[in-house]
Amino acid sequence: MRAYFVTGTDTGVGKTTITAGLAGCIRNLGINVGIMKPIATGLTEKKGYKSKDVAILSEASGTNDPEDLVNPIFLPALASPYDASKLLNMPIDMPLIFTKFKKLLSTYDVVLVEGIGGIMTPITKNFFVVDMIKAMALEVIIVTRASLGTLNHTVMTCKMCKDNDIKIKGLIINNFDEKGTMAEKNAPTTIYELTGINILGTIPFIKDFNDINMMVKTIERNIDIQSLIS
Ligand SMILES: Nc1ncnc2c1ncn2[C@@H]1O[C@H](COP(=O)(O)OP(=O)(O)OP(=O)(O)O)[C@@H](O)[C@H]1O
Ligand SMILES: [Mg+2]
Repeated sequence: MRAYFVTGTDTGVGKTTITAGLAGCIRNLGINVGIMKPIATGLTEKKGYKSKDVAILSEASGTNDPEDLVNPIFLPALASPYDASKLLNMPIDMPLIFTKFKKLLSTYDVVLVEGIGGIMTPITKNFFVVDMIKAMALEVIIVTRASLGTLNHTVMTCKMCKDNDIKIKGLIINNFDEKGTMAEKNAPTTIYELTGINILGTIPFIKDFNDINMMVKTIERNIDIQSLIS
């Protein structure tokens, strides 16, 4: 059984897209792969799953688990879990998350857990995403970007993991443009030099991206999936 927590250097870096793509790749290998989004915030979808991230992850993995199993906490506000929880007066039940997580672990051969925001996104005043990762005892995959500013965010994210004894499986640099600015082109090399963390792969910006299978195929070309599951 392998499980990973997919975190990012920021919100919107591509955690859902990459997690869904990885799940699709693992599924294509005939492996029983489950997904989880322990906490989601944001607008409620009009149809199907409340959380858009959960809808994307479920579709890509081919799972049909109840929403309250894969996403025990949904807070309908465009805010961090901490702010949303205060705003809506909805306390976040962490033990519930851990119970559901254990159930998924016992059901699937591989489980991919998408975080929320970045590593220091607050869940409560004294409990951050980094603490949730530790409590789940998961190895992380960090999704980052290549554009200017990424060195700061990436180095800080890796340092928080190291300081908290969280093992990092590797980094995935998303929306990579090999013909981009000097900063973008250098990002993979410089990130590796600064962090010493394995770069699992770079994923290009996919023009007219509208189908998760486009991401599955791109990941199959750019990332050694076998190294994640063996
Ligand atoms: N490589 C890519 N090529 C094209 N579009 C992409 C790529 N990666 C992500 N996107 C798009 O960028 C947007 C943000 O990606 P995504 O939702 O996966 O980020 P996230 O880190 O999960 O965000 P959140 O913090 O809200 O959960 C989405 O519209 C997604 O389709
Ligand atoms: Mg997401």
